[in-house]
Amino acid sequence: MTIGIDKIGFATTNYVLKLENLAAARNIDPEKLSKGLLLKEISIAPVTEDIVTMGASAAASILAEEDKQAIDMVIVASESGIDQSKASAVFIHGLLGIQPFARSFEMKEACYSATAALDYAKLHVEKHPDSKVLVIASDIAKYGIGTPGEPTQGAGSIAMLITSHPRILAFNEDNVAQTRDIMDFWRPNYSTTPFVNGMYSTQQYLDSLKTTWAEYQKRNQVSLKDFAAVCFHLPYPKLALKGMRKIMDKTLPSEQQAQLQENFEQSILYSQKVGNIYTGSLFLGLLSLLENSTTLKAGDRIALFSYGSGAVSEIFSGQLVAGFEQQLKANRMEKLDSRTPLSIPDYEKVFFEEAELDENGSASFTGYENQDFALAEIVEHQRTYIKVEK
Ligand code: HMG
Repeated sequence: MTIGIDKIGFATTNYVLKLENLAAARNIDPEKLSKGLLLKEISIAPVTEDIVTMGASAAASILAEEDKQAIDMVIVASESGIDQSKASAVFIHGLLGIQPFARSFEMKEACYSATAALDYAKLHVEKHPDSKVLVIASDIAKYGIGTPGEPTQGAGSIAMLITSHPRILAFNEDNVAQTRDIMDFWRPNYSTTPFVNGMYSTQQYLDSLKTTWAEYQKRNQVSLKDFAAVCFHLPYPKLALKGMRKIMDKTLPSEQQAQLQENFEQSILYSQKVGNIYTGSLFLGLLSLLENSTTLKAGDRIALFSYGSGAVSEIFSGQLVAGFEQQLKANRMEKLDSRTPLSIPDYEKVFFEEAELDENGSASFTGYENQDFALAEIVEHQRTYIKVEK
């Protein structure tokens, strides 16, 4: 049975921070960000956007009514949970009007868990071929003002519909995962921003890539020559470029090396304008590749490298399905370019604003007219989400 990605959607926020402005404010050479990290802009989330609103928006952009009747599992992969107990998937299930006899829950392991969610979705569809599983990767990456990670922040969600008749990417049976118990990046419950061993995290990312790729090739009897493109987890695109260079096979014909490199460039375009979206970053790379590459064709095999700090990594692959182009959007860049730019003081206010609850545990919010879904109020500690009527 063929199982894979039938639809893929993306949502981010309506605000953007241009990194040349951040560089000026932080007294950094702008080329450190544009060339050193390969980043241009990052999405900024106001208090009315969170993993629920962005996840619902990404999913709403791809789901038809018949999908909502067929979906029997909603998985949200995230490390930006809004409640220690209730899963964001339950809120999203309600906002989207998915039929009631569904299983909805959240998964967590830093930036990695959407990959595990896809594999679980695959197992479920194998047992129930008529079912559809909605997998959402949704996060807000917030490191803090003046930190080394600040230019790599971001916000966004990817939604993928997994079915037994996928029209975009058919999964292969070739996943190889690796776990290593390390402290490269973590966020204790009492902290709103992560603790990061920055350089150590980059070494772990690259070493996890090298060792998982070696094991993946050995177990599956494949090599880079069998792939048209490789997508990477994108904490910032420069690290993925280092990863691409690490696994590049210099014995391949120069045209194939150039094609892999060209497809890599297409895979980082959206990330360069959105920043790190943690669980969704790898799949934002896949979306960027699919919507911008001019050379990909049906049957091409794409490898995906997933990395979540802590750390779990995994490599798996899929085959492009005939007609995949028809499932994609053409105007993604225009939408990104229509976000409202924020000044530095506004960014510092908007991104780091926390809900101020009154003595009853309530707060109400305004200014979400341009969002698809919004956190409208908190009433006695209960978050109230709405679909914004336009
Ligand atoms: P930094 O201060 O930007 O590091 O922090 P740097 O001083 O090494 O500079 C970065 C690059 O800019 C270097 O290039 C410099 O040479 C270059 P490289 O040597 O790497 O090729 N540079 C310049 N280039 C042009 N003109 C200039 C200039 N100056 C310097 N004038 C760091 C980098 C990664 C530490 C920071 O961004 C950070 O802490 N980020 C957060 C952690 C992170 O993203 N780690 C990545 C691996 S872990 C991961 O992927 C998981 C994660 O997504 C979380 C999860 O799983 O949940 C983060």
